[in-house]
Amino acid sequence: MSSGAKPHGARDEAAAATAVRQMFDSIAPRYDLLNHLLSANIDRLWWRRAARTLRPVLANPDASILDICCGTGDMTLALLKHRPAGAHPILAVDFTRAMLIRASQKFAARKHGLPTAVAIEADALHLPIPPASLDLVVSAFGFRNLANYQAGLREFHRVLKPGGQLAILDFSEPGGLIGKAYAVYFRHVLPAIGRLIVGQAGPYSYLPASVGNFPPPPAMLALMLSSGYERCAWQPYTFGIAGLYTARRLAVA
Ligand SMILES: C[S@@+](CC[C@H](N)C(=O)[O-])C[C@H]1O[C@@H](n2cnc3c(N)ncnc32)[C@H](O)[C@@H]1O
Repeated sequence: MSSGAKPHGARDEAAAATAVRQMFDSIAPRYDLLNHLLSANIDRLWWRRAARTLRPVLANPDASILDICCGTGDMTLALLKHRPAGAHPILAVDFTRAMLIRASQKFAARKHGLPTAVAIEADALHLPIPPASLDLVVSAFGFRNLANYQAGLREFHRVLKPGGQLAILDFSEPGGLIGKAYAVYFRHVLPAIGRLIVGQAGPYSYLPASVGNFPPPPAMLALMLSSGYERCAWQPYTFGIAGLYTARRLAVA
């Protein structure tokens, strides 16, 4: 099996994708609450910080933008804050309907006339988007869940214009003393709280396991470079608990 998410018991990529979708379907009603609770609201700071980094593209009203694995839409909303009046809607894509329904409700609740987003149900590895059509592809805490990381990077490369920007916000495992203390919280405390609130063990045990399985920054940067991107960089957030990968699709590839 190639490098990608490996939910417990999934033997191949199709089974991994199905398990991920079923898991997000089951936690969708509690997802926002748990996200904010388990991260002590730091998730909001991370989305905002990532969106600020992307301001130069977001400020262009004609820029075509995809938020892939948009879930309940909070990254999309952070991006929308930097879109000017009359801007093209952001494409907000996810393959879990229960998550996407919540995202569309948030988009629909925006004041009339403000830039908005359209929710589209699709798989990140098979996007219903023409080649070389996007200026920016963003993913927040979704990329790590893809069944094949290289296939994901290639699909984003396909839909990005040459020179287009990729931004992937995701968890990482910090080193040192902070890393050790955080590991106790992430591997033991967080799954226990998650289990209590969603009433099942799977999803919040999967979370630390999926971060452990995710390539660390040097390996992820090497994967991006070998998948047709340049100017690949990683900016750690909050001691490296999370971080933002940025890159550009090679102008000629
Ligand atoms: C942890 S949530 C992140 C949601 C949101 N971006 C955020 O920051 O809160 C991960 C999302 O990725 C979606 N996802 C995982 N694999 C996917 C795939 N292959 N195609 C589309 N969406 C996928 C899941 O359905 C889920 O909604």
